[in-house]
Amino acid sequence: MAIRRINPRIAKDEIEILTFTANNRDAAKAIYPKLVGMIKEFNKDQLGYFKKAFKVNTDDWSPTEEWFLTGLDNGFYLIPLVNGEPAGMLNGEFNNDGGVKYLDINTVFVLPQYQRRNIGRTMFLIAKDMGKVEGRQVIFLTVYANNPNAIKFYESVGLRPARIHMVGNI
Ligand SMILES: CC(C)(COP(=O)(O)OP(=O)(O)OC[C@H]1O[C@@H](n2cnc3c(N)ncnc32)[C@H](O)[C@@H]1OP(=O)(O)O)[C@@H](O)C(=O)NCCC(=O)NCCS
Repeated sequence: MAIRRINPRIAKDEIEILTFTANNRDAAKAIYPKLVGMIKEFNKDQLGYFKKAFKVNTDDWSPTEEWFLTGLDNGFYLIPLVNGEPAGMLNGEFNNDGGVKYLDINTVFVLPQYQRRNIGRTMFLIAKDMGKVEGRQVIFLTVYANNPNAIKFYESVGLRPARIHMVGNI
């Protein structure tokens, strides 16, 4: 399991970023129980944006270990640890679209108490490096239009809008 240490803004905290791929599936399985609560919170947060953006009502969904592990089939997880405890997640997936090989970022979050400490940016840079190693030309993700902080974050790491999803109710 690759580990990268990052220089935190608050020096007393030890921050490191773990990388999980299909090669260390067992280690990913072992850490999953520690992530469930965080993933549920993130999903609840995203569901809020989804309901507002799509103007629909839908039930909450609970992550399962099986769902989590499918993230390794064609991709990887980055898990930041603050003083040994998980503090967020990034899931990247290697995909192809019309002959273009791209890196899809499916999930990015950092627990509220650890935000604005460069953890998100560092995960993003590691993901980009991994994409480069896999020969990807493009990084791609979707973000809710009503989540301006996430949009500012993506802009700060060099992304720009390229495709707009249009929705309407039936
Ligand atoms: C978006 C998110 C992952 C950013 O993680 P983070 O670790 O706080 O981000 P960083 O500390 O690396 O920030 C890097 C830069 O992004 C920008 N940025 C990050 N959060 C921001 C915010 N809330 N408002 C404005 N700019 C922001 C800033 O330019 C920041 O640099 P600075 O702190 O020097 O000003 C985090 O806020 C989060 O988990 N949000 C909730 C979940 C979510 O919406 N995820 C995106 C789903 S598509």
